[in-house]
Amino acid sequence: MMKSITLIESERDTDYNNIAQRYNITEKNAVTLWRLGYDSLLSYLKPIRNKSVLDYGCGSGTFCRFLSEKKAIVTGVDISENMIKVTKDSHTDSIDYYQITSGNLDFLTENTFDYVVSNFVFCTISTRQEIIKVMNSINRVLRKNGSFIIMNTNWDKSNGQEFISFKLQYSRSLFSGKPITAVIKTEPPIILKDYYWSKANYSELLTESGFEIQGISEPLARGNHIPWIAEKSYPPYQIIYSTKFSPEAQP
Ligand SMILES: C[S@@+](CC[C@H](N)C(=O)[O-])C[C@H]1O[C@@H](n2cnc3c(N)ncnc32)[C@H](O)[C@@H]1O
Repeated sequence: MMKSITLIESERDTDYNNIAQRYNITEKNAVTLWRLGYDSLLSYLKPIRNKSVLDYGCGSGTFCRFLSEKKAIVTGVDISENMIKVTKDSHTDSIDYYQITSGNLDFLTENTFDYVVSNFVFCTISTRQEIIKVMNSINRVLRKNGSFIIMNTNWDKSNGQEFISFKLQYSRSLFSGKPITAVIKTEPPIILKDYYWSKANYSELLTESGFEIQGISEPLARGNHIPWIAEKSYPPYQIIYSTKFSPEAQP
């Protein structure tokens, strides 16, 4: 079990430029993330071969490389200069990476991508307006009938739970936009300062930005081959699967 961590308010918002190198190393071996996060997310990206995928808020590019190995044509964008630098420096691959300002995808052609994925990014954004701005720009570059999949840590069901790879610091009350803290269990720990948005919030925001929700999944672990902590009873992640709304498809 981890020691509890106290945060001071002045430390609000994670500095991804500072943690880029450590984040990159940590993600490679994060059992919970791979088994219940990325692997589960992949089931929404079928078929994947030769499909174009935008990873919005790609961080150090771990998921981009995973998709590229599956023969997808991948573009990764992120606001953090160092995340993009770490990605480009440490890997030679055919993925296009771009540092962007928040929500600015103007350099990408509209209706381009078969899939857009965004993992643990909207939980770092503190206002509804900013989330809608980003979702609108994602909508523009997604092709008709394309899918948009968001993955986040599951505060609705797992507030206070500890998993193999991370812990959600217990928050007494959860309300929209409330600052919350997730801790990646490295030594020393990586502290991620996020904002709580409920499933209902994401559904509203997606609808307002021109998406139709197709489903939400909350994968749980099974079996005893891995020494799970809370993963069999409490879902670590929430995966929200939506498609671009197209009026012609309506009856
Ligand atoms: C917790 S990390 C997740 C990285 C990666 N998606 C993953 O699966 O590990 C959050 C990332 O989102 C990026 N980010 C935060 N706000 C963003 C925004 N408005 N637009 C694009 N990227 C953003 C951060 O720079 C950081 O790299």
